[in-house]
Amino acid sequence: MHIGQTISAVQTPIIPVVGEWTRNTPGTLSLGQGMVSYPPPVAALQAISHFGSKPADHLYGSPLGQPRLLELIEDKLHSENNMDCKNGYRIMVTAGSNMAFLNVLLTIADPGDEIILPLPYYFNQEMAVRMLNCTPVPVPTDTHYQLDLDALRAAITHKTRAIVTVSPNNPSGAVYPEAALRAVNQLCKEHGLYHISDEAYEYFTYGEARHFSPGSISGAQQHTISLYSLSKAYGFASWRIGYMVIPEALLPSLLKVQDTNLICPPLITQYAAIGALATGSSYCKTGLQELTKSRAQITAQLQALSGVNIVATEGAFYLLLKLDTEKNDLELVKSLISEFKVAVIPGCAFGLHDGCYLRVSYGMLDKDAASIAIHRLVNGLETHC
Ligand SMILES: Cc1ncc(COP(=O)(O)O)c(C=O)c1O
Repeated sequence: MHIGQTISAVQTPIIPVVGEWTRNTPGTLSLGQGMVSYPPPVAALQAISHFGSKPADHLYGSPLGQPRLLELIEDKLHSENNMDCKNGYRIMVTAGSNMAFLNVLLTIADPGDEIILPLPYYFNQEMAVRMLNCTPVPVPTDTHYQLDLDALRAAITHKTRAIVTVSPNNPSGAVYPEAALRAVNQLCKEHGLYHISDEAYEYFTYGEARHFSPGSISGAQQHTISLYSLSKAYGFASWRIGYMVIPEALLPSLLKVQDTNLICPPLITQYAAIGALATGSSYCKTGLQELTKSRAQITAQLQALSGVNIVATEGAFYLLLKLDTEKNDLELVKSLISEFKVAVIPGCAFGLHDGCYLRVSYGMLDKDAASIAIHRLVNGLETHC
């Protein structure tokens, strides 16, 4: 039977592939998928302990999200992101921020349009762009994975619809400074483009790095789309919930998309999210203390290896390694799993084709397991590189 040409041209999702290899080699420790090891806050689970007892629990809800959840999100955006949602913005709850990204593209782009993705990009964003028959335009960043404004400007054509920034970044861990994000936002404004700002890792910054939300810039309301996720911050990956802040003018179009593919965000998850947001971001900051220790230890161990180049970035829970080797990244990942029982993600998934890159995620394992996993990785890299 026929399978569409468009979907056939989309890259195969790398996480399930590496996941399959990992399952086929029992005992493998994963430094692959980007998740945190801590569970949701207790209040999130308490908030749903009586779910199902009211008739309304079983009915479709508002396409925007439950009023109490929207209220908590609005307060959070105001106090933490410095965004005023009463003024030109609207909030919409989605089943995770991957869905938000796809929904946004459906409303702002037509087939053939171009979406600028700084390199390395988050693979699901590149996949979403291709799925809609649009063209991803990868734009190199500098040697510290920081944005190159001139290169972004040069990549704009009459078909460009948006520039995407992911800060803190997956997979590089780079945190873009406020000035750089302001410059991108201004560039978008001048060229009539949307600035799509993915802030899934907003709480995951280290050292001097500070997260900045471009949606807080005055006059950004008409062209700035901000995406947020509870998956990482609140240990909510399986619950599938996030939200976006959109220019008011996009609301009617986004309601068409929401009504067609989700109708409303799942109610039980929204109640859990109410419990999580009521607990607040101090919860994530506690988890961050453990991550900070793992990060320091892992960075030092990997930096000590010859032939392994690491840019010490200050965000998310990823390290991007560039290896001095001619080896193919995918083959290397296979060997690391089968011979050393440790899984990482190859750089090709993130659009990196100018060498052998590996993404190491240190969010998912506790300190002891992470230390064993890194020991295995070090042995594997010493053998293969
Ligand atoms: C940059 C970025 N955005 C979005 C997501 C997905 O978030 P969600 O689980 O809310 O769909 C991820 C997950 O790894 C991510 O790295």
